[in-house]
Amino acid sequence: MIPTGLAVGLSSLLLCSGTASALVWNTFDGPGSPACHNVSRVHNATSVEDMQSVVKSAIQSKSLVRAAGKGHMWYDTQCSDDSTIIIRTANVAGIYDFSLPEGAPHGSVLVDAGVTFFQLAEYLHDRGASVGYTLTNWNISFGGSVAMGAHRSSIREDSMVAAGVLAMDIIDGKGEIRKVKRNESDDDWLAASTSLGLLGIIARIKLKIYPDSKVYAKQNTFDEKEILEGDIYGMIAPYATANLWWWPYKRKFHQRYYDWPVYGWNYDVLIGGLYPDQKAQWDYGLRAYTLELAFPVTMANAVLKRARGLFDEELKRGIIMTSTYRSGINIKFGRHYFDFLGQQTYNTSDGVDWSKGTIMSKKHLDPNYLARFKAVRQKFDPNGIYRNVIGEILEMY
Ligand SMILES: Cc1cc2nc3c(=O)[nH]c(=O)nc-3n(C[C@H](O)[C@H](O)[C@H](O)COP(=O)(O)OP(=O)(O)OC[C@H]3O[C@@H](n4cnc5c(N)ncnc54)[C@H](O)[C@@H]3O)c2cc1C
Ligand SMILES: *[C@@H]1O[C@H](CO)[C@@H](O)[C@H](O)[C@H]1NC(C)=O
Ligand SMILES: *[C@@H]1O[C@H](CO)[C@@H](O)[C@H](O)[C@H]1NC(C)=O
Ligand SMILES: *[C@@H]1O[C@H](CO)[C@@H](O)[C@H](O)[C@H]1NC(C)=O
Ligand SMILES: *[C@@H]1O[C@H](CO)[C@@H](O)[C@H](O)[C@H]1NC(C)=O
Ligand SMILES: *[C@@H]1O[C@H](CO)[C@@H](O)[C@H](O)[C@H]1NC(C)=O
Repeated sequence: MIPTGLAVGLSSLLLCSGTASALVWNTFDGPGSPACHNVSRVHNATSVEDMQSVVKSAIQSKSLVRAAGKGHMWYDTQCSDDSTIIIRTANVAGIYDFSLPEGAPHGSVLVDAGVTFFQLAEYLHDRGASVGYTLTNWNISFGGSVAMGAHRSSIREDSMVAAGVLAMDIIDGKGEIRKVKRNESDDDWLAASTSLGLLGIIARIKLKIYPDSKVYAKQNTFDEKEILEGDIYGMIAPYATANLWWWPYKRKFHQRYYDWPVYGWNYDVLIGGLYPDQKAQWDYGLRAYTLELAFPVTMANAVLKRARGLFDEELKRGIIMTSTYRSGINIKFGRHYFDFLGQQTYNTSDGVDWSKGTIMSKKHLDPNYLARFKAVRQKFDPNGIYRNVIGEILEMY
């Protein structure tokens, strides 16, 4: 065991207090960007059954459990502060039961928790298929994406990853598999659709797939004023995928859009933001915080103008607002999609108009949806072993 002082000085890998020791589990950004502070062990799961048996032993030892995908979550909110076992899903990555009959408009495929978008895109492309518009643009797991309500940027098409999910197998708080099928009148589904991992480990996901097709990508540069005063909805809504990138230092925006279903290995196009000979921000060792805001598109001009005003105030104090690919400002849009905790849900009791879609920001949560989520949470995980700090803040425990 490394002495405490040295461990803290070296990195955040190992913290010791008396006889108990706790690992820190970091996000993809590594030491200094913790996801969980109190990890008793990390288990590299090998199969769904293996994950079930670890959950069952965690119940015996009264430990909490969280799944871990690729660690691309933002920061510091994956676990609660109590001792937690991390189950790494990266090696639980089977893809099977592919079905897309000749001439059929769609079919389905099953993926295990740890399968990434890249892995599935290649698998499907080799078989003349794609996941259509719900492909997100990163090296992240399906389990992690569905848990956190990940999405592409689109108003025209369903863009939540969960919108392409037909069914899920979830390992519940007893270590047993519960099957949940898409059904908008079933609270189990509406909770599982964006669960933040609070119902259990999403072990297998059945996804809707489509015949493969090609995509084009286009990027335009605008002066800031043209966007702040412009028809933002009209610049986004016509396309399968579209977003805005704001470069506040240069006072420019990029509008980028794609159409036709996007197929797998166009990563270069899809991850976006980099030109030849440029490196990603993390290759320079740069770190920054991410701020997410979500508000109705009908308020877009007003909110962006307010942000510009705040940047200008900072400038007067000598602080220059700039952005890079990873630190933001990537402005995304979401078609409304109904579930309890998703960013793109609607019919909220605040009476706000979400029908034209969401421009991404913080979660908008409705007390009635929270209560219905909590009831499902208590059924799936009565002892709260999948707790995390977000669930605690939302008063799920
Ligand atoms: C640079 C960058 C760009 C991003 N771009 C987008 C984007 O365009 N669109 C978007 O929607 N999001 C985006 N995100 C956010 C990202 O999609 C989510 O954080 C996603 O959850 C990451 O998946 P992961 O596999 O890395 O999961 P992790 O970071 O490992 O886990 C995320 C959370 O999900 C839980 N979890 C993981 N696997 C499971 C499982 N199998 N069952 C239950 N719970 C599980 C974890 O406990 C944790 O709480 C971006 C993040 C970064 C850092
Ligand atoms: C789990 O696998 C990762 C990647 O292969 C490895 O770095 C890590 O040491 C393994 N952890 C354990 C506890 O075996
Ligand atoms: C970890 O959680 C346990 C309770 O589960 C607590 O006793 C311990 O102090 C915590 N350790 C750290 C480093 O937070
Ligand atoms: C995805 O991430 C893993 C590390 O988690 C890395 O080894 C791999 O090269 C990445 N794949 C792609 C296609 O970027
Ligand atoms: C959907 O869920 C509702 C409420 O639980 C149930 O009554 C109905 O039978 C379900 N529909 C299907 C097709 O399973
Ligand atoms: C949203 O509210 C409208 C009007 O109350 C209702 O007709 C509709 O069914 C609701 N949609 C959902 C998904 O709850």
